[in-house]
Amino acid sequence: MTVLRTQGLSKSFGGLEAVRDVDLSVPQGQVRALIGPNGAGKTTLVGLICGRIEPSRGTVSFLDQDVTRLPVHQRIRRGMGYTFQITSVLSNLSLRENVALAVRPREKSEDVVEGEVVSALTQVGLVHRIDQHAGDLSYGHQRLLEIAMGLGQRPKLLILDEPTQGLSEGEVAAFNSLIRRLAGETTVLLIEHNMDVVMAVADEITVLDFGAVLAEGTPDEIRKNAGVQAAYLGTG
Ligand SMILES: Nc1ncnc2c1ncn2[C@@H]1O[C@H](COP(=O)(O)OP(=O)(O)O)[C@@H](O)[C@H]1O
Ligand SMILES: [Mg+2]
Repeated sequence: MTVLRTQGLSKSFGGLEAVRDVDLSVPQGQVRALIGPNGAGKTTLVGLICGRIEPSRGTVSFLDQDVTRLPVHQRIRRGMGYTFQITSVLSNLSLRENVALAVRPREKSEDVVEGEVVSALTQVGLVHRIDQHAGDLSYGHQRLLEIAMGLGQRPKLLILDEPTQGLSEGEVAAFNSLIRRLAGETTVLLIEHNMDVVMAVADEITVLDFGAVLAEGTPDEIRKNAGVQAAYLGTG
C-alpha cells in the first residue's frame, strides 16, 4: 500500500518555482529520506504535503485519498504527523503536558492519554524526565521531545524536517536507533542534512535539486549516482 503519493506537485513563489512537478510515492512502513542542497525546496514540499502551503499545480494523495484541498488539521486527523523545523515545544509545560497536547485530539480518556504519553516518551528515551519543564531540556532533548509529540499522534506518516539539526553526536546516535526501531511500523518522511544519518536509516532516498527530483533510489544507488555526486554529495 502507498501511504503518500504526490503527482505533478508544484509551487511557485512569484517567479521562483520552489517545487517543480514532484511525483513522490512512499510505500507503507518505509523510511524515505528527502535530501538536497539548501533552497532545493524540501521544506516547501513538506508544507505542500501537510497542507500548510497551497500548491500551484498537482495533487497530494494520502492513504489512497486525494487530500490536496484539505486543511492541515484534517490531514492530521487522517494520520499525518509532523514536526516543524522550528521548535513547537511549550517550554513552561512539562514533558507530559507537551506530549498530552499531541495525544488528546484523538483520545478522550485521560488514562489512555497518560499511557500514550509514557509510551511516546519511552520511545525517544525521555520518560525519566516526564515531570520536568520542557524549557529545562537541552536543545537536542527538545528536538527529541518534538518527535515524541509527533509519535503521540500515532501517525500513519511521520514527517520530520531536519530533526538532527543541533543534536550532539550521542543524540544523533539515539535518533538513528529510534528511527530504525520505528521502521516497518511507521512510515517516515525524513528531511535530513546529515548524510551519515540518511545512509544509516533510509530505505530509499529522494534527491531534490532546484525544486525537482534529481534522483531516487536506495542509499547505495544514490551514493553511486554521478548526477547526485555532482550536484550534492561531491565537495559541497
Ligand atoms: N514563502 C516564501 N516566499 C518566497 N520564497 C520562498 C518562500 N518559501 C521558500 N521560498 C524559496 O523557495 C526555495 C525553496 O526553499 P525551501 O523549501 O525552504 O528549501 P529547503 O528546505 O530545501 O532549504 C528557496 O529559494 C526559498 O528562498
Ligand atoms: Mg528546509
